[in-house]
Parts: sequence; structure tokens; C-alpha cells
Amino acid sequence: MITLGIETSCDETSVALLSDQGIIANKVYSQLEHAAYGGVVPEVASRAHLEKIDRLAAGVLDEASLPIDRIDLIAVTDSPGLAGALLIGISFALGLHVRHSIPVCGINHLEGHICAILLEYPDIGFPFLAIVASGGHTAIYRVDDIGTYACLGQTVDDAAGEAFDKAGKMLGFPYPAGRTIEEEAQRAGSAAGPSFPVARMPGAPGNFSFSGLKTALKYYLNGKDADAVRAERPAICRAFQEAVVTSIVNNCADAAEKTGIGRLALCGGVACNGRLREALRQRLGSQVYFPRPSLCTDNGAMIACAGVNRFNRAMLRAPRMDPGGTL
Ligand code: KG4
Ligand code: ZN
Repeated sequence: MITLGIETSCDETSVALLSDQGIIANKVYSQLEHAAYGGVVPEVASRAHLEKIDRLAAGVLDEASLPIDRIDLIAVTDSPGLAGALLIGISFALGLHVRHSIPVCGINHLEGHICAILLEYPDIGFPFLAIVASGGHTAIYRVDDIGTYACLGQTVDDAAGEAFDKAGKMLGFPYPAGRTIEEEAQRAGSAAGPSFPVARMPGAPGNFSFSGLKTALKYYLNGKDADAVRAERPAICRAFQEAVVTSIVNNCADAAEKTGIGRLALCGGVACNGRLREALRQRLGSQVYFPRPSLCTDNGAMIACAGVNRFNRAMLRAPRMDPGGTL
């Protein structure tokens, strides 16, 4: 079975082809258009998706040397995301459906991130825990099967990636800043530096909060001149990254203890972070799995993977990904 996966929920335009043997092609255009604004501008994102999507689709078919009528299924992200951006991917998918009579399956973006783990570890086995840490979401799920997710906790304010990006803006880095902060933190070595608070949520221990951390950084930087900040930036980045990592590791360890499930999949753009990968493995052991970085950030292959899995299970209704939600 050949599945075309389409992802346009935010600032990556991606189209991929997936066969039963694995990824045939996975093309991603990361929109550089937003860097000048320090964050994603919805109208700019929609326009950039519109300009790139047909060329990316033609590109994956070319790369795979496949005619379009060999595609059995189109999987497209239909939520959550920027409305105008989603609309470009959905319209493109429906256009192909009308012209070529290929069935279309709408995919929840978070389910896509979770399914990225199946591209690397098809035999991971259920149940497993999945943490999705991205620019828009941070949540832990118990995954009993494809389509059956129980949300064990989520952020009550910023997402982990959003926290990295906002911290980066305060420190003078371009958007998105997660990777730059990780690289800068590596330069800190053993230099002395600040430490930042890690939020614990007394009423809902599985939840996350990163807005206090952002405020702590803001107050730490207040009144410091630019040269002093630049000199101290590696140690600041190390401390900031450590606070985000500790929060995620704490909640994952709690979820593993509470559910008795040791297998954990680390998904979403923040899963690219090497320090987070290392700290989770240190705390939870070798049962921590993560996709390669290109499958952690937004991509069409993860959407195709979710699509083919739902299609094979005849699951046409979207899953509930909110707290307490199962299909
Ligand atoms: O999953 P993703 O591509 O898009 C969303 O669904 O939001 O995640 C993008 C996020 C950005 O906030 C980016 O700063 C963050 O992932 N990110 C990282 C790293 N690489 C990307 N955060 C921390 N460390 C990284 N190495
Ligand atoms: Zn994402």
C-alpha cells in the first residue's frame, strides 16, 4: 500500500510517500519567511504552503518514480494547527481526491507525532507512553493502540518548544531557537551560571508549566547590558535547557511509575534535543525510544504513517487527544 502524507499545520510544508516497506520519500520545506518576525505569522505561513506544496508533491513522486495513480491513500493533517495553513494541505488533498479518486484520511497532528515512533520501531509494542513536546504542544499520553490515547498531563500554558523559542528571542537568537539554545548550552562547559525554577503542579502533578520559567529568565536578564548577557549566554542557555529537561523527565518518570509502563516514546520537535534524550535514558533506562531528528520535527511521513494505521483499522473518526480522552 502506498500512502501520500501531507503536513501543513504550521511552518513546515511537507509531503511524503510511505510504502509497507517504509519511507520512500519525505520532503520538507521549513519556512524561513518567519525568521524576520521572531515567530510564525499565520498569513505568511498559508502563502508559503500554497507556493510550495505542489512542487513538493511532484518532487516525492519524481524521487520515487511513481505515477500518481499508484497512490492508494492520502493522509493529511486536519487539526490542530493554524486554520489557514491546514486549509492549504486539506484543499490540496481534496483536489487530488476529486481528480484521481484516491481516498483521503484526516489526521490529528499529535497522533502523527506519536506515529513517527512506528516508522523507526514498528515493533515497539503496546502499551507505551508517549511524550509529545513541540512548538505548539506538550503532553504525555498512554498509547494502548493506534487511535486509543489517554492524556495523562499537558501544559497549562506554554509548550516546551515555545518556551525555548521565547527564551531564544530574549537572548537575541532567531526563530526557532530550540536547536540554537542546545548548541549554545554545549559551549558552557563547567562555567558557573544561574539556575532556573522547575514548576511542579500540586493539583495536577502530570501537567507542565513553562511560563514561570520564561518570567524567571526575563527577570534574570532585566538590567543586564547586552555584552554581559552575550558573555554569559552559554551558561544561561544551559540552565534554561536544564529546567525544561528536568520538568519533562520528572513528569515522564511519574507517568511511568503511575502506569507501570516502562516503554516511552519521545516525540515532537523538542525530542531532537540531545540533553533531553540523554537525561530521559539516564532516568528511565533503555526503554526510551526516539525517532531520528528529521522525523521528530513536522513531516509528512509521520502523517502518512498515522493514516495507513488508521485506514488498516477502519478508524475513520479522529481520536480525542485532550485530557481523559480516548476514542
Ligand atoms: O514538532 P515541531 O517541528 O513543530 C510543532 O508541531 O510545533 O517542533 C518545533 C519546535 C520548535 O519550538 C523548536 O524550537 C523545537 O521544536 N526544537 C528544539 C530542538 N529542535 C527543535 N527544542 C529544543 N532542542 C532542540 N534541539
Ligand atoms: Zn508538530
